[in-house]
Amino acid sequence: MKILIIHGPNMNKLGKRDQDQYGTFSQEALFEMITKKYPDIKFSFFQSNYEGELIDVIHDSNKFDGVIINPAAFTHYSYALRDAMETLEVPFCDVHLSDISRREDFRKINVLDGLSLKSFMGKKQNSYFEAVSYIIQKIKSYLV
Ligand code: DQA
Repeated sequence: MKILIIHGPNMNKLGKRDQDQYGTFSQEALFEMITKKYPDIKFSFFQSNYEGELIDVIHDSNKFDGVIINPAAFTHYSYALRDAMETLEVPFCDVHLSDISRREDFRKINVLDGLSLKSFMGKKQNSYFEAVSYIIQKIKSYLV
């Protein structure tokens, strides 16, 4: 099973960003935690600070069995990213380290609402573990 995890802008600075919201670990450490926890899954990871680059990768993502995305700040205003995600033919969910529903008002908007199968948030690395477990179950349910 092949799962792509996509990260938006500034996620390459994890560990150096607000540690209360995002944790103390780096992006590399987060990706390693995920890889170790799910040894049977073939993960690919992609991070970009550029909207267009993310969109190009999303357009090329139907070769995976499922996609998990943390669009970072693009979550709150990128309709271009939403439109790109709408072209996905494989299941996807969105994930956030922090609880975007309990922060500044501008973070309460999630452009993927209604498109993403489910949002996972507020549990730092555990948001990702929950998202991965969920998408694995979804992919398996589509296979039967
Ligand atoms: C984030 C929340 C966003 O509001 C923020 O811009 C991020 C990370 C999260 O994982 O909690 O960069 O998506």
